[in-house]
Amino acid sequence: MAKVYEEIADYYDLMYYWKDYKAEAAVLCKTLEEYGAKSGGQLLEVACGTANYTPYFAPYYTYTGLDISTDMLKVANKKFPTYKFVQGDMANFKLAQKFDVILCLFSSIAYNKTYEQLAQTLQNFYAHMSPNAILIFELFVDPDKYMANQPFMLVVDKPDVKLSRHNVSERVGDMAVLNMHTLVTTAKGTKYFSSCHHLMLFDPDRVATIVQAIGFKAQRIGIMKSRTTFVCVRE
Ligand SMILES: C[S@@+](CC[C@H](N)C(=O)[O-])C[C@H]1O[C@@H](n2cnc3c(N)ncnc32)[C@H](O)[C@@H]1O
Repeated sequence: MAKVYEEIADYYDLMYYWKDYKAEAAVLCKTLEEYGAKSGGQLLEVACGTANYTPYFAPYYTYTGLDISTDMLKVANKKFPTYKFVQGDMANFKLAQKFDVILCLFSSIAYNKTYEQLAQTLQNFYAHMSPNAILIFELFVDPDKYMANQPFMLVVDKPDVKLSRHNVSERVGDMAVLNMHTLVTTAKGTKYFSSCHHLMLFDPDRVATIVQAIGFKAQRIGIMKSRTTFVCVRE
């Protein structure tokens, strides 16, 4: 999978200042409770990034974060040195233990480039889950809601750092292609970063069929606007 977070890992939290991780985690914790997740159980957050959800789950579960990017994990470890973070690819990581809860949030699962790869990843999650364990994953924007050819700009203006990120949404087949151009200015000078993100616009109905075939019982909820979140129970 392409390395797209390495260079911007140190600025990731700055860029996503607008995302309300606390409020989202509150909804997710409530959902887990409703599905019978045991407090203190083993929770794996796949694609945990810089650990922005971590402080909202770690007090209630035995938390492990996993991500493909060592740079993102470096930031996570610095923020939360006492929690466990491991490097791995969601499609083929192998951990010795089984989990009561697996989470894969903020559309990270959309980095799987095909339906076959998505199925492999979900199969890998299944293999790491105890009976009746719960999996929650959030797709990228639903294909019928994705707006191609829209210009986007994000600006962060703080006394000690200025950040500006531009991109135009593009669509190539089933994929959103986001070419991000980022300028960061600090007292040390200005840096330019470019990264190209390929995110699958998975059809939720097709994903539901895959999830069922693997052996999950699934329901859909919405956390972020225009994106489908699956809550799955391992049978
Ligand atoms: C949009 S960020 C989300 C990070 C975090 N969940 C959050 O909400 O802030 C996507 C994350 O997915 C990770 N990622 C991408 N492909 C991956 C893969 N194949 N296996 C594990 N992590 C992956 C990236 O390194 C990045 O940290």
